[in-house]
Amino acid sequence: MYGIIATWRMALEGITKADEMLKNHGDAGDAIVEAVKAVEDFPYYKSVGYGGLPNEEMIVELDAAYMNGNTLSVGCVGAIKDFANPVEIARKLSHEKVNNFLVGAGAEKYASKNGFERKNMLTERAEIHYHNRLKEMTQEIKPYSGHDTVGMVCLDENAKMTSATSTSGLFMKRSGRVGDSPVSGSGFYVDSEVGGASATGLGEDVMKGCVSYEIVRMMKEGMHPQAACEKAVNTFSKELIKRRGEAGDMSLIAMNNKGEWGCATNIEGFSFVVATPELEPTVFVVKHEGEHSVFEKASQEWLDDYMRTRTAPLVRK
Ligand code: GLY
Repeated sequence: MYGIIATWRMALEGITKADEMLKNHGDAGDAIVEAVKAVEDFPYYKSVGYGGLPNEEMIVELDAAYMNGNTLSVGCVGAIKDFANPVEIARKLSHEKVNNFLVGAGAEKYASKNGFERKNMLTERAEIHYHNRLKEMTQEIKPYSGHDTVGMVCLDENAKMTSATSTSGLFMKRSGRVGDSPVSGSGFYVDSEVGGASATGLGEDVMKGCVSYEIVRMMKEGMHPQAACEKAVNTFSKELIKRRGEAGDMSLIAMNNKGEWGCATNIEGFSFVVATPELEPTVFVVKHEGEHSVFEKASQEWLDDYMRTRTAPLVRK
């Protein structure tokens, strides 16, 4: 058995690559990193890697993580600039005994020393988004409250599981702000003896509930990934509303070590991608039916519209 699941339609091309690798007895670590890199490299996805939207100082600061579910090794980078593929740096850090989570200048020094590719990650398009957003904001600079992080869980034929994330974080965030994506248990978690989960949404709220770990914990108790995702997202969203009056965007995907998978969200419009031996890489769109997050295969019209809107010409206002 093998399989891979990821947040958002933007993961489709990467998941397709990873699926090929897994089908050919590839390693879950190599496959997931290739899949995330494909998202990081695509300039039209404005929330991950190259083309990601900048912080309030118009600097693109990126967060990423990698976890090996066999050894429970974790590597993470936060607020790193000017490197093409933060997920590769995170994976390298996961091999270290200590110093597994590096941020800012320290992470950049490490990446430089280890020969990772440098790149100016601010695209012209992201710059236009920044200036347009600045114009719209008449009072203070406010970050967006939701976010499209790419988060994945992967299982290979040797029963090894991995998880990885990559994000440019909230658009217009404060310099140095780090969200849930590189934080173990919040943005991701994986244990090859159980399964893994990963999150997208408002990092500040996802971190309050360590939601990825919570899903893995429930799967360990025997819950199906779908039931575990729904329970974790619904329970924690309600808890946030009770205590704080509101809950930020939160969408989770999960896969267990049998290749069963699931998702849950508290927003409209969440999409995700899955590939297994029985399922070619497929995009699903999620909607709510009562407490349940139900999903259906994205229509060709939805898929065409997705790419059209992502790549539409953009003018500076
Ligand atoms: N979930 C990504 C972030 O809040 O940065």
